Amino acid sequence: MHRYGGPEVVVVEEIARPVPAMGKVLVRVAAAAVNPVDWKIREGYMSSMLPIEFPYTLGCDVAGTVEEVGEGVTRFQPGDSVFGYPNLLRCGAFAEYVCLEEEELAKAPSSLRLEEAAALPVAVMTAYDGLFTYGNLRVGQRVLILGGAGGVGSAAVQLAKWKGAEVFATASAKNQQWLRDLGATPIDYGSQATADHAREVDLILDCVGVASGVAALPSLKFGGTYVTTSYALPEADQLAAHRAIAHLFGIQPSGERLEEIAQIVDQGVVRLVVERVFPLEEVAAALAASQAGRTRGKLLIQPSSN
Ligand SMILES: NC(=O)c1ccc[n+]([C@@H]2O[C@H](COP(=O)([O-])OP(=O)(O)OC[C@H]3O[C@@H](n4cnc5c(N)ncnc54)[C@H](OP(=O)(O)O)[C@@H]3O)[C@@H](O)[C@H]2O)c1
Repeated sequence: MHRYGGPEVVVVEEIARPVPAMGKVLVRVAAAAVNPVDWKIREGYMSSMLPIEFPYTLGCDVAGTVEEVGEGVTRFQPGDSVFGYPNLLRCGAFAEYVCLEEEELAKAPSSLRLEEAAALPVAVMTAYDGLFTYGNLRVGQRVLILGGAGGVGSAAVQLAKWKGAEVFATASAKNQQWLRDLGATPIDYGSQATADHAREVDLILDCVGVASGVAALPSLKFGGTYVTTSYALPEADQLAAHRAIAHLFGIQPSGERLEEIAQIVDQGVVRLVVERVFPLEEVAAALAASQAGRTRGKLLIQPSSN
């Protein structure tokens, strides 16, 4: 990207292969996953909180093979299979090669194909932080996940089941059976009122946006917790009516958290469905598909040369 804008500002260009500076790792990209943050950055919606510099290469979910390491790198060597989430000011994963800080990477789970590991970092880190770091979800509690069919939501359904919670999740009609298969009680937001089907929940995890969150508040038990992955909370008086404890948050790069995630993935706790794989040349179309808001699980981008 050389400027902010619609799909037309995303161009595929030849640039020099990055050289890993001190503490950095050059990764040959097997696949990168698409996230809503990519098109939000492209549009310029994030410009006040994320002052990027142009030219800028999108892509913040990556899996690949270590090609070269910079001075001082101790945890990785060429040939290692890794996955990672870089600082959003740099991103760069929609490419054949990308440099990440050593601390932004972990060894990829051994039970998945390397490309599949690209689907994990953002979705699973966000679900993990939303449910456990901020939501403090405990065994036996009830959780309502808004947007259960998306990347974050489908990861959250599986992590909440693993924790021993009772899980309710919203999606459209086409995703009801899939949510049931993942272990949730599904709620069709097109034909059912959420509050009629999920009652007295300890935690609402909103992966859709504030309008859905406000509509779901009657499901929250008095004094329950409301966590959103979006950038807006309900009004203070709406939260106060439920004595809700409310959090909004953003994930931070963490190789340590990714190591934990690789372990639980290898234990079979969480798997993300890949709805479609786009070649790198079709990156603009992949972003448009994400922006349409109907993705089941994740979309991946693969450079054909790797
Ligand atoms: N704070 C952070 O650090 C952080 C990190 C990651 C993501 N996020 C944000 O979290 C949100 C979710 O991310 P994501 O990657 O999971 O998005 P996503 O995969 O693109 O979400 C798509 C899903 O949203 C569902 N959906 C759309 N409208 C819905 C509604 N009204 N009610 C219930 N489900 C609905 C769709 O299901 P149906 O087709 O069945 O409608 C679809 O499966 C985004 O806003 C993203 O920017 C924040």
